[in-house]
Amino acid sequence: MAREAWQRTHTCGELRTAHVGQKVTLCGWVHRRRDHGGLIFIDLRDRYGITQVRFDPEVNRAALERARALKNEYVVSVTGRVEKRPEGMVNPKLATGEIEVAASEVIVLNEAKTPPFVIADRTEASEELRLKYRYLDLRRPEMQENLLLRHRLYQAVRSYLNQQGFVEIETPFLMRSTPEGARDFLVPSRIHRGKFYALPQSPQTYKQILMVAGFDRYYQIVRCFRDEDLRADRQPEFTQIDLEMSFVTREDVMELVEGLMVHIFREILGQELRTPFPRLTYEEAMRRYGTDKPDLRFGMELFDVTDVVVESEFKVFREVAENHGAVVGLCLPGGARYSRKEVDELTQFTVSSGGRGLVALKVQDRAVEGGIAKFLSTGEKTAILERSGARSGDLILLVADARETALEVAGNLRLYLAERENLIDRSVHRLAWIVDFPLLEWSDEEGRYVARHHPFTSPMDEDLPLMDSAPEKVRAKAYDLIMDGNEIAGGSIRIHTRELQRKMFRLLQISDEEAENKFGFLLEALEYGAPPHGGIAFGFDRLAMLLAGRSSIRDVIAFPKTNRAVSLMDGAPAEVDPRQLAELGIVVIPTTVVSAGN
Ligand code: AMO
Repeated sequence: MAREAWQRTHTCGELRTAHVGQKVTLCGWVHRRRDHGGLIFIDLRDRYGITQVRFDPEVNRAALERARALKNEYVVSVTGRVEKRPEGMVNPKLATGEIEVAASEVIVLNEAKTPPFVIADRTEASEELRLKYRYLDLRRPEMQENLLLRHRLYQAVRSYLNQQGFVEIETPFLMRSTPEGARDFLVPSRIHRGKFYALPQSPQTYKQILMVAGFDRYYQIVRCFRDEDLRADRQPEFTQIDLEMSFVTREDVMELVEGLMVHIFREILGQELRTPFPRLTYEEAMRRYGTDKPDLRFGMELFDVTDVVVESEFKVFREVAENHGAVVGLCLPGGARYSRKEVDELTQFTVSSGGRGLVALKVQDRAVEGGIAKFLSTGEKTAILERSGARSGDLILLVADARETALEVAGNLRLYLAERENLIDRSVHRLAWIVDFPLLEWSDEEGRYVARHHPFTSPMDEDLPLMDSAPEKVRAKAYDLIMDGNEIAGGSIRIHTRELQRKMFRLLQISDEEAENKFGFLLEALEYGAPPHGGIAFGFDRLAMLLAGRSSIRDVIAFPKTNRAVSLMDGAPAEVDPRQLAELGIVVIPTTVVSAGN
């Protein structure tokens, strides 16, 4: 095949001492140019690496003169001979650090404006600027590594699931609106004016129907869309590894997922994971860590002293205990050294995370001191000391509130302190299952029970009788996989009979008519021989983020949106042409009018 003179013979990450003496051509971006008067050096970069190029009057003066015009991010082709770098000039940090290319020719393939930030691993640029010029941000080696890791993760997942007999099947993006928890993104139909498709929040109903269709083991690496409030670990469109299996129990799904994680860790990190992963019930996770996605890379577990303080002289504790609230604490090792100002900072944090206040007790020589200690009896102090496991020099922190709030606030405080005190060992990953979730949770907003996972989740067999008498006590055949304090996957065994599904809808106060209207297709499918089935979905972006050691999923998504759901590069969402709206029969009411009407 004919090769143009400017085309590369090697990549910028490829050349070693074995190539010394060869004439090569490299193509890439000018990463850096150093002018040493008589000599010019450029670092030439592509996604494979960086190679140093030397422009030397003794090799080719014309090339040296042309190199004077090169600026950062110019796209160039360089031809020259590979030379061993002189002793003392070797760069051990660079894979190509033992050689350089002595340039005999340089061709500018394209010029570049001065980039708004330097293309380097460390950048001072704001995330806004990085997102606006994402193509420049993605040139940074660190970002390239993130996306290459993501690529390897797709491959690892596919190879494992293929090996296990799973079939990859695509499901529609234009579906019927069947709300699953978050708000749907809607797509207006031109052909059916006034009707809308919804983008899937997940392929949940389709994958269940694929089980009814007999595919037995399905998976898909699939985009999901949810119109919800965003955070560092949430995007309006994100990717799931979605899977479903027939004729299985919880144990089967969990075992399969553990195998998948072992494979992923081996392929991506070169680490061996131990199985089975530890399991915590939801109740236990809440009690010990105040959250259903505890970070298990450090201890500092919560303890409860509600029963100790029911008759306390300290009114706040006594009242909370009398009113079925809870007094929950944690012990900060070495925290007795905290100054008043530092303790105030902890109190502020507690209040900002929804608590009413914080009680801090310093432990010195087996005695409890500080603010409210004088209101506590000796018995109370001894019991608190014992529960906390505190030693001299520690700081006991107590939160009193409605039970759920107290646990949540103490759980947040635990994480805050771990960050502040640098207690998290970031060189390890901790995985665990959270099981036995409640099937339902009460929604004050809606004045009814809502499904904790989704309405297709099966109750535990032994809790079925409670569905009528004490629905809030019913546990679900659900499981979440957590990693380093993040929920990375969630799934369940599903309801596979129409009868139980109908009962579930009734519990959720979804009328037969509404159920028929929204989920009729699924209910009907359940009547045509649905096998027992269950599955799970991973947050693919979250998994990639954790494996890459990042703290935002935006770092492992090529073109993410901001926290305000905006794409700064292409400016989505944007107004559309009035003709497009007319075609769809849509009239936009300006926000000002809507809020004035409210
Ligand atoms: P769930 O809603 O728990 O389950 O979602 C599964 C996993 O997807 C990730 N995730 C997200 N990641 C980024 N941005 C978001 N907005 C976002 N929302 C969720 C989380 C979560 O654990 N159909 C069910 C699964 C099943 O039952 O099989 C489902 O979608 O890591």
